[in-house]
Amino acid sequence: MLEHDVLIIGGGLAGCRAALEIVRTDARLDVAVVAKTHPIRSHSVAAQGGMAASLKNVDSTDSWEAHAFDTVKGSDYLADQDAVEILTREAPDVVIDLEHMGVLFSRLTDGRIAQRAFGGHSHHRTCYAADKTGHAILHELVNNLRRYGVDLYQEWYVMRLILEEGQAKGVVMYNILDGQIEVVRAKAVMFATGGYGRVYNTTSNDYASTGDGLAMTALAGLPLEDMEFVQFHPTGLYPAGVLISEAVRGEGAYLINSEGERFMARYAPSRMELAPRDITSRAIAYEIRAGRGIHPDGSAGGLVVFLDLRHMGKEKIMSRVPFCWEEAHRLVSIDAVTEPIPVRPTIHYCMGGIPVNTNGQVRSSGDTLIDGFFAAGETACVSVHGANRLGSNSLLECVVYGRRTGAAIAQFVQNRKLPIVDEQHYIRVAQQQIQGLLEQNGQYRVNQVRQAFQDCMTEYCGVFRTEELMQEGWQKLEELQKQYSQVYLDDKGNCWNTEIVEALELQSLIVVGRLILASAMNRQESRGAHFREDYPQRDDANFLKHTMAYYSPAGIDIQYARVTMTMFEPQERKY
Ligand code: FUM
Repeated sequence: MLEHDVLIIGGGLAGCRAALEIVRTDARLDVAVVAKTHPIRSHSVAAQGGMAASLKNVDSTDSWEAHAFDTVKGSDYLADQDAVEILTREAPDVVIDLEHMGVLFSRLTDGRIAQRAFGGHSHHRTCYAADKTGHAILHELVNNLRRYGVDLYQEWYVMRLILEEGQAKGVVMYNILDGQIEVVRAKAVMFATGGYGRVYNTTSNDYASTGDGLAMTALAGLPLEDMEFVQFHPTGLYPAGVLISEAVRGEGAYLINSEGERFMARYAPSRMELAPRDITSRAIAYEIRAGRGIHPDGSAGGLVVFLDLRHMGKEKIMSRVPFCWEEAHRLVSIDAVTEPIPVRPTIHYCMGGIPVNTNGQVRSSGDTLIDGFFAAGETACVSVHGANRLGSNSLLECVVYGRRTGAAIAQFVQNRKLPIVDEQHYIRVAQQQIQGLLEQNGQYRVNQVRQAFQDCMTEYCGVFRTEELMQEGWQKLEELQKQYSQVYLDDKGNCWNTEIVEALELQSLIVVGRLILASAMNRQESRGAHFREDYPQRDDANFLKHTMAYYSPAGIDIQYARVTMTMFEPQERKY
């Protein structure tokens, strides 16, 4: 059996930052990172616009308190304020730390780190590397991991969390290259497995964002928190859905409807295009519903609005947001210097996740902790984003909470023994699962069921939700669950069998989809990204609380947990 002191699942920003903190704290610890892609292909590499921190380089009146208030207001008051305080207080320090590791941030003319405007932030506080910030940070972190000798299992798919008697003991994993199954035991297991964008049919997320860590946690009997809060990014490039960064609006671009109007004046007059994402995405959806959307040829009544950069000029576009220009040019043949870009909301981020405390340790309910199990980044819910995340707070969360979780793990594993694990049992169960998939004699292709599932989630649990719509979606999901047990695979081999991986991922997607839908049906109010047309108001009296959803194949049990409020009382949320 393989063994390590610490096993980190996920090679993105949170996982790499945690790994680095552990080996920096105690170089004797044996740390391994397991990733289903090469780490520099993790979805963090696609982060564009930047990372918020009140460095005050552009705006000397900024402060961590102002950042905290913007974050809590942006969250529609659902964020836990102790966690937000840590996030915003530690932000300047983690940016400087990254800089010392070698991350090349964009600069002001005097050499200090540049900071731009971002949605929902009241000051220019987003640090960036043009519009390739995730790329710049992740590459440096991975280089540093190599320097410290962290072990790397790349292109291994983790199938199961081994959780016994309230203790995480390791994982079962599948080598995509040759089908080998291994059990790995560890003194501590950390999930940094990212989000679930692929639950929906149009997303800015990469193909690997299939919610595997979330599903494994739910299948192990632990709750997932606030899963109903699904973020739509306002400006997905149409039709691909890939991200056109909010940085483009931060640098001055306009949103325009078919009447040539900057329609955000109707929805968020004080913030215009830089309103938070929930408000901006709904505004675009309302415009399209009202017939003021645009067809790609410019005529009225279509499914997009325009993102107009033309007044910014070529020099600014090419120096501040060159990647967005390139995406529009490469994917839809638009030259954004002279033509507007067609955009519409696209699924971007998962506000909920595995409940953790501010040291990244997983909570099983309320404040009960799971021994040896940690999580950070998008897969975790600490909760700093509540019902709606502000742009540029997620890279920050990965780094602040990746670092804190790494520090907590380095302490946790001191003087602990490796757990006892029945390797043969877990190998046998995993082999049966793979064999079952290979031998299944069904009538559906994996991609057929996946597409139907993604269409179902998009139609029945999207920007606008009602009880009736979601009930219908729930029935359809039951049907799709049955179809999943009748999928067949063409490839029966062991070598690079991506069909097996896709079948396992589809199971994760379905588990996560059911949790999203059940959590959304139970929250009978509108808050942040969760908008119920049948309950259009926020209802603090009944729903200022976190959802804790427990999965079982028979159904989903919904409980609730309190919100920590230390600094700011809920107010009406207007921009
Ligand atoms: O628009 C963006 O660049 C995305 C940033 C974020 O999600 O934080």
